[in-house]
Amino acid sequence: MSDQGPHRKLVFSGVQPSGDLHLGNYLGAIKNWVPMQDDMPCLFCVVDLHALTNWIDPKELTQRTREIAAAYIACGIDPKRSSIFAQSRVSVHAELTWIFNCVARIGWLNRMTQFKEKAGKNSEKASVGLYDYPVLMAADILAYRATHVPVGEDQKQHLELTRDIAQKFNNDYGVPDFFPLPEPLILGPTPRVMSLRDGKAKMSKTDPSDYSRINLADSDDEIAQKVRKARTDPEPLPDTLAALEERPEADNLVGIYAALAGEPKETVLARFAGEPFSTFKPRLADLTVAVMGPIRARMEALLDDKAELDRILDAGAGKAAAIADPLMREVRRVVGLLG
Ligand code: TYM
Repeated sequence: MSDQGPHRKLVFSGVQPSGDLHLGNYLGAIKNWVPMQDDMPCLFCVVDLHALTNWIDPKELTQRTREIAAAYIACGIDPKRSSIFAQSRVSVHAELTWIFNCVARIGWLNRMTQFKEKAGKNSEKASVGLYDYPVLMAADILAYRATHVPVGEDQKQHLELTRDIAQKFNNDYGVPDFFPLPEPLILGPTPRVMSLRDGKAKMSKTDPSDYSRINLADSDDEIAQKVRKARTDPEPLPDTLAALEERPEADNLVGIYAALAGEPKETVLARFAGEPFSTFKPRLADLTVAVMGPIRARMEALLDDKAELDRILDAGAGKAAAIADPLMREVRRVVGLLG
């Protein structure tokens, strides 16, 4: 029997509405979700409870939650086939987190590198929620017994924790196969898109420099300017992948081109080997605008009709709760809660 036991295949993934969506979120995650809709049922969540782990203006949180839902649809998620919903609307996420808080070990959470990065030097001042964040993520996934979780590389450790929690719950309560051990799907040529200013740092919503990332909401001119200003080295593009290894900025731009074009990095190198960045960058800018421009336009149109977006989120929450509520009743029974 596989890691996932007898469970039906189901995809779950999510994005935090904590800042502007960027090319890393698109290439590392959302773009890879689209074809999965043909293969199995999919739930795509806007994880608004996660966004509370760092203070966020309430109005901004509401606005960004709708923006992310709009981005999902603009990128190709079909709300008729997949459930798009806000995490906070399905209360099982919070309830199951409590159960899992009592399963997960402090030592496991102490090893989470993303907490250390996000909390910075003064971790005593970080919220308890930020520390507990990966447990909420495990509840997100296991509330639906999801078997496949398409994410960027930075989420790999959190997925391992999810598997550990599932396994310990199954063992502790003597219910083998109650939860599946979900598979992280880290896909595409750029599972970790790097900052345009520093090829060793991840492209991130929270980087203070807007030039470090291409946002889904950026205009064509902004995109072109950011690509033009992206940090590079003085050498022309090489003809082998191995020659990119010591050149993180060059590697990143080639990876972005490959992911946007939907081709392997080798093909991009074969086309541009020996060319200087002054030739490559305008081609990359054109490609980025060609892919991202229509997504931005669709996103803007969707955000013009908030009532329709809210209807989609409502319907998505209904479909999600129809899976999560019965599961939660089973969990309560398994752990001995009367409810
Ligand atoms: P978040 O909101 O930081 O990012 C959303 C998705 O984008 C991917 N990603 C990247 N991929 C490649 N390069 C990058 N620079 C980059 N930056 C972000 C992330 O890996 C992620 O797939 N904890 C999650 C949200 C979450 C979740 C879940 C995901 C909550 N519950 C359950 C999957 C399943 C997060 O903060 O992602």
